[in-house]
Amino acid sequence: MSLLEVTGLRTGYGILPVLQGISFAVEEGQTAVIFGLNGAGKTTTVNAIAGLLPVWEGQIRFDGRVVSGLTAPQIVKAGLALSPEGRRVFPGLSVLTNLRLGAWTRRSNHRENDETVQRVFGYFPRLEERKDQLAGTLSGGEQQMLAIGRALMSRPRLLLIDEASLGLSPKLAQTVFEVVSQINDAGTTVVIVEQNVGVLPYADQALIMEKGAITYDGRGEDLERSGDLRKTYLGGD
Ligand SMILES: Nc1ncnc2c1ncn2[C@@H]1O[C@H](COP(=O)(O)OP(=O)(O)OP(=O)(O)O)[C@@H](O)[C@H]1O
Ligand SMILES: [Mg+2]
Repeated sequence: MSLLEVTGLRTGYGILPVLQGISFAVEEGQTAVIFGLNGAGKTTTVNAIAGLLPVWEGQIRFDGRVVSGLTAPQIVKAGLALSPEGRRVFPGLSVLTNLRLGAWTRRSNHRENDETVQRVFGYFPRLEERKDQLAGTLSGGEQQMLAIGRALMSRPRLLLIDEASLGLSPKLAQTVFEVVSQINDAGTTVVIVEQNVGVLPYADQALIMEKGAITYDGRGEDLERSGDLRKTYLGGD
């Protein structure tokens, strides 16, 4: 059984359909990357999985349990956390408070939350140096780290990251990918939306979306080898 199973998922905005009935599965312990051009439906996909958009048709299963139809908070409680597009940290709150808010599903468990904060600081030492700084004054890259860290605070089994490297320097993007790979090594399954092919070496599975459909679903290394796909769908190299 796959940890995440999406079957025939259709959704959109208002009456405008975006996802045309997509199906894919992600195995526990893997890192899957969703590529695609602007407007392909990547954010719509991860937002629907996270319960931020209603599912029109189809089903999302997590660990065998149907989660489509649950509210976003219920989905976080089920073990699925999203680091959303555009980071969306709380700008007027400190780094530490932002992190603590990510643990709202485990509010009463102070000791465990302190441990998770330390784990996040281990991944992103820069956040520890800036733990009392207001999140709105962090650099873009630091806000990205905070958004991922905040999602980790609920100790998810599956972490969804929408656009991990957007706006980051190539070097910082690489750092973020490396941390994502450490998070994965520590046992968290990862689904990451990316436009940067530099993530491919870290991906077990690669998906390509076009116009609300999945047009490639295979091993990351196969996609890495096939230069044509790269040229056609990822804007060349
Ligand atoms: N809130 C919304 N209301 C109406 N249409 C929307 C809304 N959000 C997205 N769309 C449309 O849905 C389609 C898919 O958008 P989505 O954000 O999922 O794409 P994406 O693959 O994440 O793109 P990007 O790489 O630019 O983030 C686009 O045509 C977009 O205009
Ligand atoms: Mg998007």
